[in-house]
Amino acid sequence: MCGIIGYCGPRPAADILVEGLKRLEYRGYDSAGICVRSEDDLSIYKKKGKIADLKAYLPETIAGSTGIGHTRWATHGEVNDVNAHPHSSGDGSIAIVHNGIVENFTPLREKLEEDGYEFVTETDSEVIVHLVDSLYEGDLERAVKRAVLLLKGTYGLVVMHKNEPGVLVGARNGSPLVLGIGESEMFLASDVTAIIAHTKQVVYIEDGEVVCLTADGYRTSDLKDRPVDKTIDVISWELEEIEKEGFTHYMEKEILEQPESILRAMQGRIESEYATGHLGGLNMTRQELLQVERVKIIAAGTSFYAGMVGAYLLESLARIPASAELASELRYRNPIVERNTVYFAVSQSGETADTLYAMRELQRKGARVLGICNVVGSTIPRESDGGVYIHSGPEIAVASTKAFTSQLTAFYLFALMLARMRDMSIEKGAELIRYLEAIPHLIDEVIDRKESLIPLARKYHRAEDFLFLGRGINYPVALEGALKLKEISYIHAEGYSAAEIKHGPIALINEETPSVFLVPDDALREKVISNMKEVKARSGQVIAIAVDGDDEVASIADDVFFVPRAHELMYPYLMVVPLQLFAYYTALELGRNVDQPRNLAKSVTVE
Ligand code: AGP
Repeated sequence: MCGIIGYCGPRPAADILVEGLKRLEYRGYDSAGICVRSEDDLSIYKKKGKIADLKAYLPETIAGSTGIGHTRWATHGEVNDVNAHPHSSGDGSIAIVHNGIVENFTPLREKLEEDGYEFVTETDSEVIVHLVDSLYEGDLERAVKRAVLLLKGTYGLVVMHKNEPGVLVGARNGSPLVLGIGESEMFLASDVTAIIAHTKQVVYIEDGEVVCLTADGYRTSDLKDRPVDKTIDVISWELEEIEKEGFTHYMEKEILEQPESILRAMQGRIESEYATGHLGGLNMTRQELLQVERVKIIAAGTSFYAGMVGAYLLESLARIPASAELASELRYRNPIVERNTVYFAVSQSGETADTLYAMRELQRKGARVLGICNVVGSTIPRESDGGVYIHSGPEIAVASTKAFTSQLTAFYLFALMLARMRDMSIEKGAELIRYLEAIPHLIDEVIDRKESLIPLARKYHRAEDFLFLGRGINYPVALEGALKLKEISYIHAEGYSAAEIKHGPIALINEETPSVFLVPDDALREKVISNMKEVKARSGQVIAIAVDGDDEVASIADDVFFVPRAHELMYPYLMVVPLQLFAYYTALELGRNVDQPRNLAKSVTVE
């Protein structure tokens, strides 16, 4: 999604803005720009393309120590220099950067044009700068407040005026905005990643709030101009965690650090003496947890597939009805909120609009919604009724990997907790904990075998279609494997229940369509083998992810990747890692931009 940065302080703004935008590259974008106040004027530099293109375009030196910057992920208007942000008022006195969608921009634009304002872009965002201009009477903060009251939709916004040197005004509704507090300098950003190099002291701006800042201080207030007291949070992770540390791509680094990230997700959350889980942030007493009669999970993309595994675990271990549903579907289905039901909103970024708005809809219907999120201080965990941080550390690659396995870990722990409150014995609980605690080591073993996936990527990377097939708890993993491949290699891939293939998809099978089968040694192994044979009988190519020593599967498949043996409920961990790596190597074969695949954003903060 769009990236925003603002700076006011003693240092040259341009370098800080460009460096901050570079750290936001991972969010996905198609153009970038900055505005700096220098010699009493606002100078705007913006370009289609990457930050490198913008840097090449910038003058050698740009004077001025107040500025704003933006990386644009186009929602309205084509990708070109003109539509890039920042946008300025007609006389160049005001500049803005905006993340979000102005849903009523057409009537506003018509009214402004009637009043003589000329528009030069196709964007919805340009409406905002002219609106502020039309309401400006010498007080930028006041003009911004009056302007945003007229907006319908979402905004994370930073505005500057040439007549108010050293002042930035930020406003937020639906798109993230965070204030960074430095030594005699202040920052605004859509994501702490942009400013962590300068400060770890941050203030999260909430919906309906406005922040006015100068180098020496800031004021937060609401749209009625009432002061709002805010707490200062301190970011817990280090800058180097968002560096590649010698890896070619963030995605590779994040796949390979899953043993550590899973350990972090478990840390301090297992009560060995009672063989149960301990999730402190749920804001639910054990008595309340005992009353839980059903669990519903909402999410998008990879997080949705983690939720599907979570639902399977809750039903299997805790014998509680559980289901996962796409947040974007639930929100507009006028959902029926039932008593004694706990909802989970699963989101790595904590900013996904589909999931955030579905959570809000559920909460307004009286639901208790807990978050399972990675980014501390992001909107979903701040607005949820409690929840679990998965502590994966910053996930920079657009394709989610380590967050997925840490989301699984949160569900394993929650399912263990509820199971031990119901029928699961302490012995069974201890057994499950042993299986869980073995996972990081088993994933290390899978990672040790990663090189054997490279020839498979070389062999199959020209395929135009893939099927990914799994059953039971591994069916969501097949969906995730398909998503990984399609989003970074751009090859069409579909995930399916292996059983379902004979109800239609088998018509797709031919010599050029590889089918990737997940074949753990669980109760459904024989069924999956039958499905494999159905594909082979139709000259389909079969790649199997199987368990060490499974010679039968190896004899049927064209190619096989073995994972270590484990408890049947643990295979989602072991089956997903080879699929992540296969997608990664295939994308490399195709020369794709692995960390920032085309058209994608790391956090989709628009519907
Ligand atoms: C996953 O690889 C994709 N980047 C995407 O599907 C992502 O999972 C989805 O947009 C949800 O993001 P979230 O977890 O931050 O809510």
